[in-house]
Amino acid sequence: MGRVIAIVNQKGGVGKTTTTVNLAAYLAEAGKRVLVIDIDPQGNASSGFGFDTKILTQGLYEVLLEPQTTVQQVVKAHSDNLHLLPSTPDLAGAAIDLVGQHNREFRLRENLREVIDLYDFILIDNPPSLGLLTINGLVAANSFDYA
Ligand SMILES: Nc1ncnc2c1ncn2[C@@H]1O[C@H](COP(=O)(O)OP(=O)(O)OP(=O)(O)O)[C@@H](O)[C@H]1O
Ligand SMILES: [Mg+2]
Repeated sequence: MGRVIAIVNQKGGVGKTTTTVNLAAYLAEAGKRVLVIDIDPQGNASSGFGFDTKILTQGLYEVLLEPQTTVQQVVKAHSDNLHLLPSTPDLAGAAIDLVGQHNREFRLRENLREVIDLYDFILIDNPPSLGLLTINGLVAANSFDYA
């Protein structure tokens, strides 16, 4: 089972995304299978891996809110062993759209079950807030780091 690490701090601009992107690149270079999850609507981890979030048609929003959309349908490959579950601008609405939903804190965790054995590390880059998106990131983690 992959180790799932949420990189979280309520304060903005403290290096969460930088930590996520560089740790992922290092682990992939060392031969580990790595999935980065961009749970921040700013999309900086996604753009950091070269993906333009404004032209992506699907991202984490669909995984969290549409039961028929799976992680594997949305994941993008940066290289053979470094994959990204990208953010799109729609994700900004997810915190509101999740409010009335059943199991709203567990959506990411439940969706990761299908891929947990495909990766050695799953790194989650969180937004600078303690809203439902970050709660989904924390609930999905099986370890966490203060960055
Ligand atoms: N170790 C570091 N030393 C110096 N500058 C750094 C370091 N880590 C990150 N930075 C710089 O700090 C700024 C903010 O970094 P980053 O975007 O990773 O923060 P963040 O916590 O993800 O921000 P946000 O909360 O907005 O998502 C960037 O300009 C980045 O280059
Ligand atoms: Mg960030």
